[in-house]
Amino acid sequence: MSKQLIIFDTTLRDGEQSPGASMTRDEKIRIARALEKMRVDVIEAGFPIASPGDFEAVKAVAETVTESTVCGLARALEKDIDRAGEALKNAASGRIHTFIATSPVHMERKLRMRPDQVVEQAVWAVKHARRYTDDVEFSAEDAGRSDLDFLCRIFEAVIDAGATTINVPDTVGYNMPWQFGETIRQLIERIPNADKAIFSVHCHNDLGLAVANSLSAVMNGARQVECTINGLGERAGNASLEEVVMAVRTRQDVFDCDTRLDTTQIVPCSRLVSNITGFPVQPNKAIVGANAFAHESGIHQDGVLKHRETYEIMRAEDVGWSHNRMVLGKHSGRNAFRTRLEELGIHLETGEELNEAFARFKELADKKHEIFDEDLQALVTDRGLEKINERVKLMALRVCSETGETPRAELTLSIDGEEQTTAAEGSGPVDAAYKAIEALVQTGADLKLYSVNAITSGTDSQGEVTVRLEKGGRLVMGQGADTDIVIASAKAYINGCNKLLDAGQRAHPQGAADV
Ligand code: KIV
Ligand code: ZN
Repeated sequence: MSKQLIIFDTTLRDGEQSPGASMTRDEKIRIARALEKMRVDVIEAGFPIASPGDFEAVKAVAETVTESTVCGLARALEKDIDRAGEALKNAASGRIHTFIATSPVHMERKLRMRPDQVVEQAVWAVKHARRYTDDVEFSAEDAGRSDLDFLCRIFEAVIDAGATTINVPDTVGYNMPWQFGETIRQLIERIPNADKAIFSVHCHNDLGLAVANSLSAVMNGARQVECTINGLGERAGNASLEEVVMAVRTRQDVFDCDTRLDTTQIVPCSRLVSNITGFPVQPNKAIVGANAFAHESGIHQDGVLKHRETYEIMRAEDVGWSHNRMVLGKHSGRNAFRTRLEELGIHLETGEELNEAFARFKELADKKHEIFDEDLQALVTDRGLEKINERVKLMALRVCSETGETPRAELTLSIDGEEQTTAAEGSGPVDAAYKAIEALVQTGADLKLYSVNAITSGTDSQGEVTVRLEKGGRLVMGQGADTDIVIASAKAYINGCNKLLDAGQRAHPQGAADV
């Protein structure tokens, strides 16, 4: 049995299927670069047939990444596989991932196909995908609720047809860890040509068991885990990459395999994904949550100070926590600024982008003396170097909030290059600012979520605001950061408005097509 556990990251595909998490081509490239730097083995970059934007994104990632395999998803259909093959044609190493559902409810109700037809279609799809690449993965969608004998039959057939990875998804997060582990054990034991393929798992988190199920599968012979940064993904999400990787690395006494990941890239990668998607990481999230290595109780603090291992099973620096290290200040130069950004995996493509980011850094350094890594990440994301088409820009905002008075906001926006000013009242300064923005932009969107996070510690910390806006069934997240939280709030709302107005640019518009 191989000692290497292959990490297949699907943040850019399944992760992107989280409502509101759609990404542009450039955002996908930034995340793909960070994943490559972390030494992820396979990056699933998208679903090329889903939209022209997603096709372009997969193609661009395939043309950028050289150290990881780049994968594109395709149903077991000719048009999907051809589109994926086309998107991946320039990849240094490309994989086509084709799937068809195998559970009774999916075959009968969704596909309206008999089991024999499903096997035939799967075999055909794998053979067709092999015309584009030797690296073909086959997934039995809803394997977690499929009949074991049928899984054995279809997997044996697709391995014969040329599939090199066999993926067993618990699509609806239904399995218990001991059950799922047993399924993997039996599949490997019963399928006669099982040794010709790598067995992989893809677990969803509907019952909070995605990581436990993935680890149980690894204990029973799975050698690829499909996962996402921060556990992002459809509904309750997928198995979280950081938890799977650190469980295996920390418990080498239990697992007989390990990944080749550079785990110090985990926290920077988590922040990047959170910044780009606008999905905040909960403070008590394992590995990457702000409190993951914080000790509050006196007994714990005392213990850790005496001997770290009393209460810590991992070292914060091994997963990339820099402990709010003060990295730059107002006297830092452009070179130090660029170098630190590069270390954080942020590449500014042009001199103009660097100048613009550096000017904003100086502005921030005037307001806030110590600039941490987290500030730099927020600063770059905040300005939208992800290149969303910024039709609406904040030019000026003045708010008045006083005991006994109705809060009022006066606002100037530039909309498609034309400055417009208005004023509005609200139940609080943020509400007043949002009413003023809506009066000018008129998106008609509903505000579904509003949250503020302090990026670092201290009262001069930047506030990072996340909003979720909904318009006609489409969800977008907006983010903004500033030392003034009303301004951060306005920036977040405007960022969301720009995404709504920029619908065409999203790689995978939510609710698009029938895929
Ligand atoms: O959850 C699932 O079944 C999937 C497949 C396409 C692998 O995402
Ligand atoms: Zn999935």
